[in-house]
Amino acid sequence: MDKQVNIEKPEGKLGILLPGLGAVATTFIAGVEAVKKQIGLPIGSLTQMGTIRLGKRTEKRVPKIKDFIELSEIDDVVCGGWDIFEDNAYESAINAGVLKKELLDQLKPEMEAVKPMKGVFDQNYVKKLNGTYIKTAKTKYDYAQLLIEDIQNFKEKNGCSRLVGVWCGSTEIFLKKDPVHDSIESLEKAMQENHPAIAPSMVYAYAFVKAGVPYANGAPNLSLDIPALEQLAIENNVPIGGKDFKTGQTLMKTILAPGLKARLIGLDGWFSTNILGNRDGEVLDDPESFKTKEESKLSVLEHILQPHVYPELYADFYHKVRINYYPPRGDNKEGWDNIDIFGWLGYPMQIKIDFLCRDSILAAPIVLDLALFLDLAQRTGMRGIQEWLSFYFKSPMCAPELYPEHDIFIQLMKLKNTLRYLKGEDLITHLGLEYYD
Ligand SMILES: NC(=O)c1ccc[n+]([C@@H]2O[C@H](COP(=O)([O-])OP(=O)(O)OC[C@H]3O[C@@H](n4cnc5c(N)ncnc54)[C@H](O)[C@@H]3O)[C@@H](O)[C@H]2O)c1
Repeated sequence: MDKQVNIEKPEGKLGILLPGLGAVATTFIAGVEAVKKQIGLPIGSLTQMGTIRLGKRTEKRVPKIKDFIELSEIDDVVCGGWDIFEDNAYESAINAGVLKKELLDQLKPEMEAVKPMKGVFDQNYVKKLNGTYIKTAKTKYDYAQLLIEDIQNFKEKNGCSRLVGVWCGSTEIFLKKDPVHDSIESLEKAMQENHPAIAPSMVYAYAFVKAGVPYANGAPNLSLDIPALEQLAIENNVPIGGKDFKTGQTLMKTILAPGLKARLIGLDGWFSTNILGNRDGEVLDDPESFKTKEESKLSVLEHILQPHVYPELYADFYHKVRINYYPPRGDNKEGWDNIDIFGWLGYPMQIKIDFLCRDSILAAPIVLDLALFLDLAQRTGMRGIQEWLSFYFKSPMCAPELYPEHDIFIQLMKLKNTLRYLKGEDLITHLGLEYYD
């Protein structure tokens, strides 16, 4: 057993602040309140239900992760957030239509108490929304200061000892990296000059990191993943992570593709299409927002299958992803995949997937785990990009000299080994040399 890292105890309340109180955020908040009242189980959450094997298999030490490492208790979580519409979390959850009214009614006082703070918004970055509940200020830098005030006020008002932020706002248009993103100075100057390369989500990301609060980006748009904010996170001892929650079709892709590669099965093509009818689907109906999502979804296979390492199997596969806005389905998405594969001597085969998926049901536990793990990271003194949380993202952030790890099984091993390391337990390599001499 190695030396254990010093982990500050999670004393007091943990505030989880969510920019964007839509389907994902309200499904998450309702879940937290339902678990507190013991009327629901946190299914899908590694921090609440996952276990971790320690030592040799013969030792039979397999505690729950939450009993193994110092995480905040769900009872100590307080939620808050911002939106560009005034609905409280109860109204927004009813509107999102993910959870049944009967369940939401049992949580009504707690959900109604979560009233959004006014958002920072600019329609140029989300064409399909026309926000009415928004802050006014002169510059993007001034907006950031207002958000920092909100963050501090929330902490004080709710008696929180620590905070974490997770972006659950809409997907913004595709933005390319710009030289103003390169350093903290150039970013702050650009914010003061209202430079178009600074999207509202970036203003939030800046505010959190500046305020010293751990932060994750659940959407695919360029936001936290710029050198200036990565640098600021290191300077301010802030753990960060992103981006784009790994749910739905991409979750399936990162489960299946590593299996195909493990068995050296070739791929000719992977066609993915979806119908969904929630607000996220409506936003993604705009080609500029869709482009952001498309970039995030497409990179997954390339990284997992490594065509440069296996040219005979993966050099030429065709990959297409489509999202279609179809209102009747609401949040209950349907995703189809047609996968053309080939085996021994090049003989073709096909796989068809029809996933009747509930996106926000898959995303809510990710919000919880990210918040609790980022808080843990800060209490252990970890800062900057937390690659061990790649498990939760479609486009994991990583250091510029590295490539992102997309294989969900490698991601899980990395996450659990990080926890073992923090607690001074042996890392598990799955190497068994009992009969070797
Ligand atoms: N549901 C999933 O499984 C999933 C998976 C990966 C990523 N995401 C991303 O998570 C985000 C949330 O998804 P959702 O289904 O909850 O969408 P949603 O449309 O229901 O909620 C987004 C909310 O953000 C608000 N908003 C937009 N811009 C804002 C701003 N600048 N400040 C404050 N609030 C703002 C909107 O008014 C809306 O209430 C989206 O970007 C989506 O692409 C979702």
